[in-house]
Amino acid sequence: MKNNEQKVMLTGVRPSGNLTLGNYLGAIKNFVTRQTKYKSYIFIADLHAITSPRDPVELRVAVNDCIAMYLACGVDPEQTIVFRQSDVLEHGIMGFIMTFQTHMGELSRMTQFKLKSQNMGKNGIDTGLFVYPPLMSADILLYNTDMVPVGLDQQQHVELTRDLAQRFNKRYGDTFNEPDVYIAPVGNKILNLQNPTEKMNKSDGPNPGTIFLMDDLKLARKKIMSAVTDSESIVRFDEENKPGISNLISILAAITDDDIAAIERRFAGRGYGDFKRAVADAVCDLLADIQAKYQQFKNPAVLNAILANGAERARVVADETLSRARVALGLK
Ligand code: TYM
Repeated sequence: MKNNEQKVMLTGVRPSGNLTLGNYLGAIKNFVTRQTKYKSYIFIADLHAITSPRDPVELRVAVNDCIAMYLACGVDPEQTIVFRQSDVLEHGIMGFIMTFQTHMGELSRMTQFKLKSQNMGKNGIDTGLFVYPPLMSADILLYNTDMVPVGLDQQQHVELTRDLAQRFNKRYGDTFNEPDVYIAPVGNKILNLQNPTEKMNKSDGPNPGTIFLMDDLKLARKKIMSAVTDSESIVRFDEENKPGISNLISILAAITDDDIAAIERRFAGRGYGDFKRAVADAVCDLLADIQAKYQQFKNPAVLNAILANGAERARVVADETLSRARVALGLK
């Protein structure tokens, strides 16, 4: 379907003013380092935020905070199309179309659905939680995406997207590009520092095991220094037997782009205190840099202009793809 055009990269984050170190290392950093090589899109997935009830005022604020955070993390709006999902109405219609290509069994098997629906027992499970993967597929397919950098928890959804694209193309003729997922070799699943068998989540709220990008530096340092480890006192990467230390090694490796073996060698014969101080230094340097830039970008007029421009540019492509899909379906 594609000729010699520039390859397309896209990713999205559900709006939360307070992104975590996991969001940064699992997705945003990998996007930022590649944004010049691709035609790049990054969006705030605000339709995904309403799959469960959410305070509207808080949501609007979170969207703006989240864009400021993208910029602070290095997203360049000159290079990259930055937009809010709900500004491009094509996402809704395409989400609807992709939902109809999906089997109940496929959605029931999604790990995120299984995990999150466990906590929804009492008042029933929100349909939004069940059907959001095909909306995510729509987000990706609308822009003819080749590559989607995400953390490990979202890999299954990108794989579903490939399946849906293939299914649609087979049924209705060549319409969608099949995207590849990009999972960073290190940092794709940052774990909670206090409970290193669980993922670090932005929905955790104030939590001693979660590093938020806006955390006060002293607090962030304290969180790293009190991270759960083990009694062995050897800095060695072993996710099964040493999840806490392995998580800290991943954090350091992902921030500094060092490889894991080099970190193990550097800390051979040194205690956990020394090692944790090095991790805390790297995390605090990163946070200090992001936080300084965040203040610089938190200007509503600038953010609104970026979003308006981004939506306009995104709409052109989304509209073209949606038209193609409608023609293929016999709807146009
Ligand atoms: P969300 O908002 O939960 O997370 C945003 C990105 O951060 C990654 N991530 C992590 N990576 C490593 N370690 C962690 N602890 C960690 N926590 C989160 C996620 O994998 C994700 O890449 N449905 C998506 C948003 C979305 C999207 C899309 C992404 C909507 N449409 C289209 C890509 C393409 C979500 O809820 O991500």
